[in-house]
Amino acid sequence: MNIRMDNLIRAIAVALDIVEGELLGASANHGKRLAVLTAAMGRRMGMGDEALSALASCALLHDNALTEYILSEREGREQDHNMKLHCVIGQRNVETLMFQTDISGFILYHHERANGSGPFGKKAGEYPWGAELIGIADLIDVTHRLQRVGADRLPLLRQNISDKTGVIHTPFAAEALLAVLDEEMLLSLGDDRIADTMDKAIPPWTVDMDSEVILNLAGFVSHIIDYKSSFTRRHSAGISDKAWIMGNYYGYDHTLLSELYLAASLHDIGKLATPTDILEKPDKLDDNEFRIIKDHVRKTYDMLADIGGFEKIREWASNHHEKLDGSGYPFGKKGDELDFNSRLMACIDIYQAVSEERPYHPERDHQTTMKILYDMAGKGHIDEKIVRDMDKALDIHEH
Ligand SMILES: [Fe+2]
Ligand SMILES: [Fe+2]
Ligand SMILES: [Fe+2]
Ligand SMILES: [Fe+2]
Repeated sequence: MNIRMDNLIRAIAVALDIVEGELLGASANHGKRLAVLTAAMGRRMGMGDEALSALASCALLHDNALTEYILSEREGREQDHNMKLHCVIGQRNVETLMFQTDISGFILYHHERANGSGPFGKKAGEYPWGAELIGIADLIDVTHRLQRVGADRLPLLRQNISDKTGVIHTPFAAEALLAVLDEEMLLSLGDDRIADTMDKAIPPWTVDMDSEVILNLAGFVSHIIDYKSSFTRRHSAGISDKAWIMGNYYGYDHTLLSELYLAASLHDIGKLATPTDILEKPDKLDDNEFRIIKDHVRKTYDMLADIGGFEKIREWASNHHEKLDGSGYPFGKKGDELDFNSRLMACIDIYQAVSEERPYHPERDHQTTMKILYDMAGKGHIDEKIVRDMDKALDIHEH
């Protein structure tokens, strides 16, 4: 089965935009505008589909390591690294997607400046072309808010780019951007048109469901999500691992196993859109805050819409807080509306949350965790047969 990888990356980029918006004030669709601009520049240079797709993906994911960088900064570590850390980790993450095009340094150097004043002190000509293109698009979009620039301000904007060439922008990047930044391009970047523009600008990229790329992407996404909050550093990764173990226990073939693994890694992607101060609030949440927390599942559901080949994965990912008796959220589905893997995902999510260390409870061992799960199964919340299977399959793995 094939998955539209470009659509999946786009969904992740939407989540990243929200994080960048929360932390750095970037606006909605920022990643998409970067993808469109870099793809337009690349196309004009005569790049083929494969290279365009790699470049646009890197543009969409340029700040994929932002959650990790901000968290380490908040915790008082890595302060000397400044911006460097999110560049280094971001590059490492994106390289797991195994592009055919050489993307070395594209994300690593996206904050370099032509005069060498960037985080790594590289001057124009010393960092790769992909980083130059992503860098100029990023900076121009953040400083000029391209989604709102009217055609009347275009000459000023172009002048501004020219003025900073050789200091901030490399001559290569400035020339490339000025060649594509006309009135028509500007209009196509507005919030109402950007999704359409992007569909036309970026070649589709499909990959086989059980390819290594998909599994790597799953690891990549859970990493981003888990670093949103220090309380959940291993949550999505732990759930993916357990989904893999349970899928194997049930004898799933590699494709089904990959689907389950991907659903597990994505289940809390909606949390990227939940404000960090609510995720990390040490005191009891009030009703409104609790409603916002619960809303993460609906956001997961929305973010995973429109990805070709993704229907089941979306279902399993967004049913993880549903209960057999209909007392769960966000849809209040009942047992007969919950397929086996949705039930499994709910059990695994509870197992992981109960066993991992949280501010309000310590780490728990397998026995203690299972007691809580059996209790919930007894109350008709979760599937008892699955709970028994987990008792067997996960016990072995703990030792
Ligand atoms: Fe960045
Ligand atoms: Fe950015
Ligand atoms: Fe959740
Ligand atoms: Fe979760």
